[in-house]
Amino acid sequence: MHYGYGKLILFGEHFVVYGLPGIASSIGLYTRCQLYPNDKGIKVRDRLTNKNIALGENKAEILDRTMRIILEETGLEEKNFRLEIDGDIPVFGGLGSSAALIVSIIRELNEHYQLGLDDGRINDIAFKAEHVFHGNPSGIDNTASTYRRLLWFEKNLSGGKNKIELLKLKKPLQVVIGNTKIIHDTAEAVAEVRKRKEKNPEKFDKIFSEARNLVLQAKNALEKGGLQKTGELVNKNQELLREIGVSSKELDLLCETSLENGALGAKLTGAGMGGCMFALCPDEKTREKVAQAIRKKRFDSYITLVGG
Ligand code: PMV
Repeated sequence: MHYGYGKLILFGEHFVVYGLPGIASSIGLYTRCQLYPNDKGIKVRDRLTNKNIALGENKAEILDRTMRIILEETGLEEKNFRLEIDGDIPVFGGLGSSAALIVSIIRELNEHYQLGLDDGRINDIAFKAEHVFHGNPSGIDNTASTYRRLLWFEKNLSGGKNKIELLKLKKPLQVVIGNTKIIHDTAEAVAEVRKRKEKNPEKFDKIFSEARNLVLQAKNALEKGGLQKTGELVNKNQELLREIGVSSKELDLLCETSLENGALGAKLTGAGMGGCMFALCPDEKTREKVAQAIRKKRFDSYITLVGG
């Protein structure tokens, strides 16, 4: 049985698609994959999305397409097996469930067939497979899921290796994730931002340059352990995401609720337009208070540590 972990983008979603830096971390929510022998062919059951496929029967199906990329990259097309997938990560919610799914599958195949793939190669295959879900992903989700750490990420727009730098914190961050339970489509959200950017180049240039600056400041604040400053930057990042139009009234409500209950900063995470947000809390007690306040508004909340 192998695991793939979800991720939280602390800074820079959407902007990373255009080569700006982002900061992301894996989180405790996961998918897991178990391989069983099968007489003939390849079957996959994904309990998270309630999908059940026999490979090749419906070639347009997203799981079928994902599997075919993984099999081609690993040279396992002729094998016979069955995969059972489950986990606790909410799907289509901005927590990187597709990347987690893919990483758990590759890790299980790697172990079972003794492929000897290292993290770099696992990440490369996961990135290729992520295209099925997201059209033109930056690669930040699969990178956070593969490396299971807090990291700095910059997409290489010329197609070469992305810049990945593992970040070290003095103390892990106390975080609450709030889920609006409104599912979103990442590819749609990314396409929408592109359209708005093309329509309003001057406005977006200004926002993009603020976003680049902000992530640089955030790295500095995080590494110095400046919680208050990090919180302020989280709020500023949310403001920029609102300006590019990917927040929603539910996300704004959850951010406000978190700040009213003592969070130092709160922002959406992932593609937005629904999905999840997170709140950075000064301590465990506040984290519990914020998580409860979110649940009181009838949304889901999860607590997690980042950078531990
Ligand atoms: O919502 P998610 O988990 O699919 O996150 C997507 C993050 C984006 O920056 C919006 C897209 C990307 O590929 O980086």
